[in-house]
Amino acid sequence: MNLILLGPPGAGKGTQAKRLYDRHKLVQLSTGDMLRAEVASGSELGKLAKQVMEAGQLVSDEIVIGIIAKRIEAPDCKSGFVLDGFPRTEKQAVALDEMLSEKGGRIDGVIELAVDEDALVERISGRFACAKCGAGYHDTFQRPKTDGVCDVCGGTEFTRRKDDNAETVKARLQAYREQTAPILPYYERKGLLQRVDGMADPDAVTREIEGALSRIRH
Ligand code: AP5
Ligand code: MG
Repeated sequence: MNLILLGPPGAGKGTQAKRLYDRHKLVQLSTGDMLRAEVASGSELGKLAKQVMEAGQLVSDEIVIGIIAKRIEAPDCKSGFVLDGFPRTEKQAVALDEMLSEKGGRIDGVIELAVDEDALVERISGRFACAKCGAGYHDTFQRPKTDGVCDVCGGTEFTRRKDDNAETVKARLQAYREQTAPILPYYERKGLLQRVDGMADPDAVTREIEGALSRIRH
């Protein structure tokens, strides 16, 4: 099964994509994580993406489509994946359909995480992750069981994303409103879109997503 998680910054795409991997072994394909890896490696592509990401704008369609086209070919994607943060423009959505249909594949379902914009700034500005294993936490909503120690790997160093500040979040929300939300009707017309209440607590969101999956025809 191939899924798309759609929603604004901070909607919980990454959180729920990791749970979809744990439960269904759907590989998480996060273009944000892929771009951050490029930035960290200092590659030419990373250099191009860095400033755009720090300004909260969208990286060019050509770059992102190229990254996904390559990643989707990998053997681990054959038994199903969940796209987190892609597509973000109509051009990306069309390119995705084309690259999948060339291989006889398709998107089986699109889940929109619906959230109030006011909640997102708080969610994003409180977010941090373990520097060693990447497990995600939040200052208020999801603290490690022991302060300063990662629940998953015992790591004691944590990182915060450079684009997780109030000013950049506003630009990211604007990019979502203007460039990404308009692709929702594209999936609605195909009968693929299901809306989930992303304001509920993470376990309730997971249960709603499970309900949505059970309605997807295989
Ligand atoms: P990307 O990395 O995709 O970031 P984003 O879309 O802004 O989304 P986030 O990762 O901030 O949020 P999330 O929905 O994953 O939420 P999370 O689960 O972490 O993109 C970054 C940048 O890369 C873009 O701005 C752009 O420049 C570029 N880019 C990426 N893809 C691109 C593309 N396709 N085209 C062009 N450019 C692209 O949750 C957030 C916080 O809330 C966490 O702390 C979490 O613990 C907490 N939380 C989660 N769920 C809940 C809940 N239900 N209740 C309370 N708290 C919760
Ligand atoms: Mg994310």
